[in-house]
Amino acid sequence: MRLNQYSAFGLCILVLIVGVALALYYPWLWFVPVIAGALVLLGVVDLIQPQHSIRRNYPVLGHVRWLAEMVRPEIRQYLIEADQEAAPFSRNQRSLVYARAKREGSERSFGTQMDVYSVGYDFMGHSIRPAPAADPATFRILIGGDQCAQPYLGSVFNISAMSFGSLSANAIRALNKGAAMGGFAHDTGEGGYSPYHRENGGDIIWELGSGYFGCRTETGAFDPERFAAQAANPQIKMIEIKLSQGAKPGHGGILPAQKVSAEIAATRGVPMGQDCVSPASHSAFSTPLQMMEFIARLRELSGGKPVGFKLCIGQPWEFMGIVKAMLA
Ligand SMILES: Cc1cc2nc3c(=O)[nH]c(=O)nc-3n(C[C@H](O)[C@H](O)[C@H](O)COP(=O)(O)O)c2cc1C
Repeated sequence: MRLNQYSAFGLCILVLIVGVALALYYPWLWFVPVIAGALVLLGVVDLIQPQHSIRRNYPVLGHVRWLAEMVRPEIRQYLIEADQEAAPFSRNQRSLVYARAKREGSERSFGTQMDVYSVGYDFMGHSIRPAPAADPATFRILIGGDQCAQPYLGSVFNISAMSFGSLSANAIRALNKGAAMGGFAHDTGEGGYSPYHRENGGDIIWELGSGYFGCRTETGAFDPERFAAQAANPQIKMIEIKLSQGAKPGHGGILPAQKVSAEIAATRGVPMGQDCVSPASHSAFSTPLQMMEFIARLRELSGGKPVGFKLCIGQPWEFMGIVKAMLA
């Protein structure tokens, strides 16, 4: 035990005594003993409370730690973080997005602040005869072969799956509006096709996770009738089965009960007041061949829309099993 650990507390007691004496002669200094008294009281509470060893060992002073922790993110972000640092987006990337969103000039003059010699730095190979850039309106890829009655001419830029529930209504509206403006497809994520996906009419990829949100029975199994009714919507261009995603290495997922609002419950077809769970695996199929049959079934039920799948590869042999099933 070192003497100085009580120094802040001791100083408060000293200021309290001096403050009381001063306030007796100069009444306008009343606030000095009041503040010092409050800090002494805080120190006493710190000393007798049994939960936090830091407060007990460093009465009064120990609170500085929580204060510092509170402002740590802001201090790092505004004062310490470099322009190219931070995940998932650096300050430079964010400023570019803000500038474009406000329709401010987003062109940058020639030159870079990046370390172009760092490992993993991507660059374009130089050409003395650059080809003209493709027209974004016609630079599209046909998705869906002979088996698809409704193939989709997709952009190479699309909006990755992020569920309504993990994102707010306004975020979904904004992404879908962006999809409509840019001619992209907006993936719903596994959280279902919500009213906010419909407002701006951007193309939709409807993702089905293991919870079959939006097309599930009461017990959580896949419901072909509900699927067919929703998949017939012309805004839905393609279907995606989600096997797994990188951000959820343990598979499955959970939306805690307190986040399951009435709208989320209606979109997903789940009850309110309960955790909304995506099981670890699909119940509609369990082998690669069954998965191919399920894909064919979804294609048929959707009226011939392309059906794909998203997965995260942990074991290469698992993926080879899927490839063999695709060939079969
Ligand atoms: C907020 C949020 C929600 C997500 N929800 C889903 C989801 O419902 N289904 C899915 O397949 N992936 C989901 N993802 C994963 C993304 O689709 C994507 O695979 C992941 O973010 C990696 O891509 P990135 O490096 O471009 O971010 C989500 C990601 C985020 C950030």
